[in-house]
Amino acid sequence: MRIGVLTGGGDAPGLNPAIAGIVERATMDGYEVVGLKRGWQALAIRENDNHVVKLGPEIIREYSRLGGSKIQCSRTNPVSPKNDRTDIVKENMKKFKLDAVIAIGGEDTLGAAEVLSERGVPVVGIPKTIDRDLTGTEYTLGYDTALNVICESAERVAHTAESHETIFFLEVMGRHAGWLALRGGESAFADVILIPEYTFSIQKLISVLKERQKETDDLNLGFEHRYKIIVVAEGAHIEGEEAVRRDSKLDEFGHYSLGGVGDYLKSLLEHEFKHTRYTALAYLQRGAPPTQRDRQIGRRFGHSAVELVKQGKFGHMVAVQKSKLVVVPLREVRKSPRLVDVDKLYDKERLNVKIENPLLDT
Ligand code: F6P
Repeated sequence: MRIGVLTGGGDAPGLNPAIAGIVERATMDGYEVVGLKRGWQALAIRENDNHVVKLGPEIIREYSRLGGSKIQCSRTNPVSPKNDRTDIVKENMKKFKLDAVIAIGGEDTLGAAEVLSERGVPVVGIPKTIDRDLTGTEYTLGYDTALNVICESAERVAHTAESHETIFFLEVMGRHAGWLALRGGESAFADVILIPEYTFSIQKLISVLKERQKETDDLNLGFEHRYKIIVVAEGAHIEGEEAVRRDSKLDEFGHYSLGGVGDYLKSLLEHEFKHTRYTALAYLQRGAPPTQRDRQIGRRFGHSAVELVKQGKFGHMVAVQKSKLVVVPLREVRKSPRLVDVDKLYDKERLNVKIENPLLDT
């Protein structure tokens, strides 16, 4: 049995440990693993001999602790309606003597995997995205590491914020879903959290910040408490407006790159507050060594994905539901993204997290 593994979409900490887990399990079972470089591109083009690399047990030690993807990622869409390359994928499966593909990715990479699987390509999936917005799984690789970076970064910017009594916007990723902002902001005790799922008015934001400052002043806490930290997701936007785009380029799945909402909001608040600052975490939140959780779950996802291949359970992905490792059909990921339930988890008055079930709803 010869298995190809690929990583698609944006990189996320946990990809390499998952690859290490796949190789570890495949080695136990006597299977061979090859890395398919640059995501679906390795199978979707013909001039691809340099896209395939053998992955033996010697990679496990190194891959197990590294962020990013040692076999590179791409946003190639092999089943794009404008340029469908299903036939080339099938040709390449034969050319590289692949019995199965394990695709590690988010909604786009796994969405393509599902379409290919329906068309007879033997593929299974492993969910990854720092955004944790995939339907069908409570966990996606990369989320925990990014969350830890956000929490630590909020602490760092608080030094500057405190020193200058500043309203500080910390922008984090999260295109459709605000999980990173919500849970990162919650962990950092942020004063305001802005998420894509809830559109707000600039007047509301100003009044919430003034109320927070008044509370601090009324308690006579001193100048050092006047600073405020706002964690804002890149996809958050003012009502009636669209999310702020970094540029006008579209990827093969039809997405714009987002970024800059923190800077935009800062510019709108400058006349109301003396000191305002903005920092976008951008790739710093993705490019960290994987946390224990991302390594452990990555490794286990890797083992389970090989097991799925062994059982011939194609068209499925490994997932976590109710803290248990489960198997779900890949078609799940093509449903709408898993968003923050605003009514349950978000306080629209205070523009912040609502903590009602402290031990649930993580
Ligand atoms: O999909 C995961 C993600 O981290 C999103 O939050 C973000 O919009 C996107 O990737 C940005 O990725 P890139 O700039 O690499 O295309």
